[in-house]
Amino acid sequence: MYPIHDQFARPLRDLRISVTDRCNFRCQYCMPEEIFGRDHVFLPKQQLLNFEEIERLASIFTQLGVKKLRITGGEPLMRNDLPRLISLLLSLKGIEDISLTTNGVLLKGYAKKLKDAGLKRINVSLDTLDDAIFNKLNSRVYKVKDVLEGIEAAASVGMKVKVNMVVQRGINDHDIIPMAQHFRGTGHVLRFIEFMDVGNCNGWDLKKVVSKEEMIKLIHEQMPLEPIVPNYFGEVASRYRYKGTDEEIGVISSVTDSFCSSCTRARLSADGQLYLCLFATKGFDLRELLRSEASDTQIRDRIIEIWKGRYDRYSDERLLQTNQANRKKIEMSYIGG
Ligand code: GTP
Ligand code: 5AD
Ligand code: SF4
Ligand code: SF4
Repeated sequence: MYPIHDQFARPLRDLRISVTDRCNFRCQYCMPEEIFGRDHVFLPKQQLLNFEEIERLASIFTQLGVKKLRITGGEPLMRNDLPRLISLLLSLKGIEDISLTTNGVLLKGYAKKLKDAGLKRINVSLDTLDDAIFNKLNSRVYKVKDVLEGIEAAASVGMKVKVNMVVQRGINDHDIIPMAQHFRGTGHVLRFIEFMDVGNCNGWDLKKVVSKEEMIKLIHEQMPLEPIVPNYFGEVASRYRYKGTDEEIGVISSVTDSFCSSCTRARLSADGQLYLCLFATKGFDLRELLRSEASDTQIRDRIIEIWKGRYDRYSDERLLQTNQANRKKIEMSYIGG
């Protein structure tokens, strides 16, 4: 193993792998319909890394200290044959944890296949329990029930489930308490996420951000909470439990209480570009290397060189950066959050 550190002494531990830039939702904060409409051009198939290429890269990353993988999209369940990729990745030496982030509407049909492939846990996005708001947020006609059934299908085959709720003031903040009440006692960990300024077209405004402090105060007034320690170094969510129980919730506070100083995450786009930050403006082409004559050692050395040069810490610098209105960030659907 060759553990490596970036310019701020952060090790490389996690790799978030996007397997497609397509999605069956058009969430306004990620892929607004006006921009990702019928004529939007998605990545053509030959540009996507195939499973063997992803496996090869992931294996090289394990040599550099990566222990945790996350499969993202777009919507990862739209990638054909995804359970096969999960089993390939799970067989890599050094991988301790692998999970998937999904919008959940296809999950009911996939839960058993994913479990059979070896997946033990899954994160499902759900911002509201109200169908009208749900449809307004994602511009599609699925029902909240479809996601809830997906969650139950995953839980019933034995997967641990986390639920991600992106909170926007004036849109779904009134759903914080109903969501907390709904998931309390289910064993699923609900995480409240501060609305972030990802990409270039999500209509972000600081006024729409409900802070971690506000969310915790609101829940605590009705259902007292106490903080708990992180599960691992660099965990994104701050963890809490309802006092006197082991029922857990989390808050992800990239805006008001950023966590860049412990950011150990690299991101791989579906077409094989390596990104060092969710808010990066450019990536590093690993696909070209993969499809050249380069050996694993040469690819490994290139990744070492890239990670060693990393000095990204966008959320720590956010207010400064967002004033630079023309910063061209990658889109969330391309890099998977
Ligand atoms: P766990 O391994 O279950 O803790 O997953 P996770 O919370 O790291 O991943 P998930 O895909 O569920 O992401 C939850 C939220 O955290 C999403 O809104 C992500 O965009 C956000 N997130 C994840 N990693 C980062 C990060 O490195 N920086 C920022 N700013 N946000 C992140
Ligand atoms: N701010 C915060 N989280 C977001 N997500 C998508 N867009 C945003 C945003 N603007 C979340 C999704 C999913 C995860 C990958 O990122 O809801 O749970
Ligand atoms: Fe919504 Fe996730 Fe699809 Fe983006 S990738 S449109 S956040 S479901
Ligand atoms: Fe990591 Fe960038 Fe997120 Fe900071 S903003 S935690 S550096 S991905």
